[in-house]
Amino acid sequence: MAIPAHYIQELLQRNNVYDVISSHVHLKRHGRIYKGLCPFHSEKTPSFTVYPDTQSYYCFGCGAGGDIISFTKEINGLTYVEAVKALAQQSGMPLPDEDDKLSRLKSRIYEMNKLAARYFHANLNSEKGKNARIYLRQRQLSDKTIVNFGIGYATDDWQGLCSHLKLKGYTEEEMVSAYLAARSSKGNVYDIFRDRIIFPIIDLRGNVIAFGGRRMGDEGGPKYLNSGDTPVFKKSNGLFAMNIAKKSGKDTFILAEGYMDVISLHQAGFNNALATLGTALTSQQAKLIADYAKNVVIAYDSDEAGQKATRRAMDIFSKEDVSVNVLQMDGAKDPDEYIKKFGRDKFEMLIEKANSALDFEILKLRRQCDIKDTQGRIDYLTKVCDILAKIPSPILQDVYCSRLANETGADKSSIKLQLEQSKNKLYRSNNAKRSRELLKEGIAGSIKVDYRQQGNTLPKVFAQQQIISALIRDNELFTQVDSQLTEDDFTDANMKNAFVEYKKLKADGQEVSYALLCHYLEQEARQILAKINADNADIIITAGDLQMHINNLKSAPKGQNEIKNTSKEDLAKWVESLKEKKK
Ligand code: UTP
Ligand code: MN
Repeated sequence: MAIPAHYIQELLQRNNVYDVISSHVHLKRHGRIYKGLCPFHSEKTPSFTVYPDTQSYYCFGCGAGGDIISFTKEINGLTYVEAVKALAQQSGMPLPDEDDKLSRLKSRIYEMNKLAARYFHANLNSEKGKNARIYLRQRQLSDKTIVNFGIGYATDDWQGLCSHLKLKGYTEEEMVSAYLAARSSKGNVYDIFRDRIIFPIIDLRGNVIAFGGRRMGDEGGPKYLNSGDTPVFKKSNGLFAMNIAKKSGKDTFILAEGYMDVISLHQAGFNNALATLGTALTSQQAKLIADYAKNVVIAYDSDEAGQKATRRAMDIFSKEDVSVNVLQMDGAKDPDEYIKKFGRDKFEMLIEKANSALDFEILKLRRQCDIKDTQGRIDYLTKVCDILAKIPSPILQDVYCSRLANETGADKSSIKLQLEQSKNKLYRSNNAKRSRELLKEGIAGSIKVDYRQQGNTLPKVFAQQQIISALIRDNELFTQVDSQLTEDDFTDANMKNAFVEYKKLKADGQEVSYALLCHYLEQEARQILAKINADNADIIITAGDLQMHINNLKSAPKGQNEIKNTSKEDLAKWVESLKEKKK
């Protein structure tokens, strides 16, 4: 690995597994071990366990496990090196040198992957590719689809790709680290992909990052062989055809289980289909999808495993800002087979009548409760109301209340009353959760103002922060701001700078995300914005809200009602004074 072992050793000595994890998970002692609720999946009884003896953790519920570096990496969504740096920082160690060797290896792997993809693709038209051509025809793939996906063929040679890459000047070590070759016990390298149809996996920047290979017959190892993790590829983050789905410009994505499902869907015109790479959906993948899509239709296999995976995926998506529908297929095991049997139009109809995740959940509860029985009916209504409380639209809530009234014979107004109770409960538990999180942040945590209630009495710094935060989250709001405000309206140095840099990036034609903007900001500004983003996470800043902030900035004369270069303590005092006033 890039970072020398002695460095890691010291890092592990300075950071104790209990300390690292207990700052994220509430841990309870059980003899020599600790237990808590797993931060990587949702659960009600603790199966996440920490082992001081081995300085490791493991979750019996979801299988997550590792050491402090992997914990820091996963919990914070960092790369390995970043996690090491984070831990180093926390424990006052100097940072490891950024490794040039690693970044060079990465670009060598990208090059090799590109060459390999071309090589595999060219094989299709060679003498040795005859069976592969027949296979692809049997699976009804058109030439256009084959080219579109860069589908190829790895010949039945042990040294096909290896010698090709050797000729191009790549070393055996490099090929092994790209997961294109493996080393035999005798020490020779050989091709990993042999006699398989090859599907290149391409990231959002157009780099070939990995391969999936399908055997053509019934024998010869697993049906699909996938690249293992390499310095440029992490299987649990990878998504097949994400590059194309993103370009489709559609705000709904279809999530399928397999390579062939995705390819069939695209061939039938659903160019918004994508899949994970033979692994269950992870939260990183869900986040990435939610970054580009507003809705997801889960179109997993219709067998039991597929349905189980569907429920899991719904759970994972529920934490993201994306609506989820579930497709119910009858008469075919997967979308590929469905389209071949019934045609693309029928599939489109399936998509249209896909159950919302909400209906799916309610249906599940309905099956669990006996609504003919009074207690069963109460249970059912209470549980459904708990679910309804989470949806943001009052109109939709009302629709469901009417439905529930019809279904159970209960009075609609009492259902609505129950819903209010559920909402209160949710509000309290969210608040409690928030304040727990804020406690960790120290005094900054006490700054909590719901801007919608405070109207124009808010300090202008707050308005400026909200404006920048809104711009980051929705680039389309830029014209509204740009047409009314100049950088001189921003009195807070950090936010002024953020606005100036944002404008520059916009002028450069960039889509400005928080991360991109951060690149140009001071740490202090990044932190402030991160916090605002977090506070705003479950709030949508509408054009109307934005206008309120703009008006606020423009109305009051500069200097009035403003807390300039506010220290956290000052702001906290100010918030307290507001609360006093309200009382
Ligand atoms: P399926 O067995 O449903 O394959 O596995 P499929 O995509 O429908 O392919 P065909 O139609 O049989 O050719 C779904 C996905 O699970 C992963 C692959 O990503 C596959 O697309 N998988 C399956 C593996 O990684 N390895 C395997 O051996 C099998
Ligand atoms: Mn399948």
